[in-house]
Amino acid sequence: MNTQEWIELSDRYIMTTYKRYPLVVTRGLGVHVWDSEGRCYLDLVGGIAVCALGHAHPKVVTAIKEQVEILSHISNLYHIAPQILLAQLLVENSPFDKAFFCNSGAEANEAAIKLARKYASEQMVGRYELITMQDSFHGRTLATVTATAQARFHVGFEPLPEGFRYVPYNDLAALEGAVTEKTCGVMVEAIQGESGVVIPDPGYLPGIRRICDEKGLLMIVDEVQTGIGRTGTLFACEQTDVLPDMVTLAKALGNGFPIGVLLAKEKIAAAFVPGSHGSTVGGNPLACAAASATLETILDEGILDNCRKVGEYFLSRLAELKEKHSRIREVRGQGLIIAIELTLPGAEFVDKCMEKGLLINCTNGNVLRFVPPLILTKQDVDKAVVILDGVLEEK
Ligand SMILES: Cc1ncc(COP(=O)(O)O)c(C=O)c1O
Repeated sequence: MNTQEWIELSDRYIMTTYKRYPLVVTRGLGVHVWDSEGRCYLDLVGGIAVCALGHAHPKVVTAIKEQVEILSHISNLYHIAPQILLAQLLVENSPFDKAFFCNSGAEANEAAIKLARKYASEQMVGRYELITMQDSFHGRTLATVTATAQARFHVGFEPLPEGFRYVPYNDLAALEGAVTEKTCGVMVEAIQGESGVVIPDPGYLPGIRRICDEKGLLMIVDEVQTGIGRTGTLFACEQTDVLPDMVTLAKALGNGFPIGVLLAKEKIAAAFVPGSHGSTVGGNPLACAAASATLETILDEGILDNCRKVGEYFLSRLAELKEKHSRIREVRGQGLIIAIELTLPGAEFVDKCMEKGLLINCTNGNVLRFVPPLILTKQDVDKAVVILDGVLEEK
């Protein structure tokens, strides 16, 4: 089938919740993917910050193959060896004590919201509200889309669940002022990814921790996009020395195999008891085998170091482009979550890059976002910069 035929079938059978590019990607290897016509692309989208080890990484492929031949699924009615091993790996490489496994970022955040409420219902009676940040993104379930303080995602889905208050990101005074006798916690992204790679001031996350400590609130950090090495450390909040009460992860955890996890300190986690929450396939053997292989490879094979080095190099090359092109308003990033903010809409740049064999993403209208595999090399960066330079020249 050619591309057009695939697209016609897609339109016939799949709900139109996504605005898709006219591209059918059929194969991937490392930092490259190929379309249904055999064209190769350098992939700086990485499945939207998911394929941290690139496509078809041999360690992940082997782990999935080996596990699928033994046991794919059994349910959480029983103990699951790969799930236990993954929980151990996550806990031993983090400041958290307990894990709850699910299948996506939204579900991990949903679990965090429920755990916060459950804990509050027992330990802070009368408190149930969470404060979240304007322009945040926490997922598409009804609770997480409500936590997502962006009206455009709410339209048509009202009435939304109650119990959420919004304040501007990076504004500690507004946060402090919004706390009421009903507040039980604060939920925040370490970097706002979807709204354009917005990096907070260095004192912001520590400031939230201080406010939470002073007012007895739970601090939940959504690291669905920034976690698992994206910023050069396993968790982005490590770099600010902040210890949240809960953290959520998904995206890169399974390198493309769907999995999400909520990690929490023991005292908070204890509010979940048998029957409190669950997921039939959450943390199943196959997903956990993929995630353990991903995490072990990231930790043991210098991936974090590569992310920091190549990320810095990428930022420096983009800073050169900024000097040359007045359409670039700002270049920013941390590790390999990097953005070019343009002075004009970015959609056309994405199309032009695609024509030249480079996949990038535009978010928030005028922000070109790069969340490539963490195995990216300086040579890959150089190749991408030549294409970006050409496209910026053309416009
Ligand atoms: C910070 C953050 N939280 C949650 C989500 C939702 O994750 P998922 O699409 O896996 O439900 C996303 C997705 O982009 C995200 O960036």
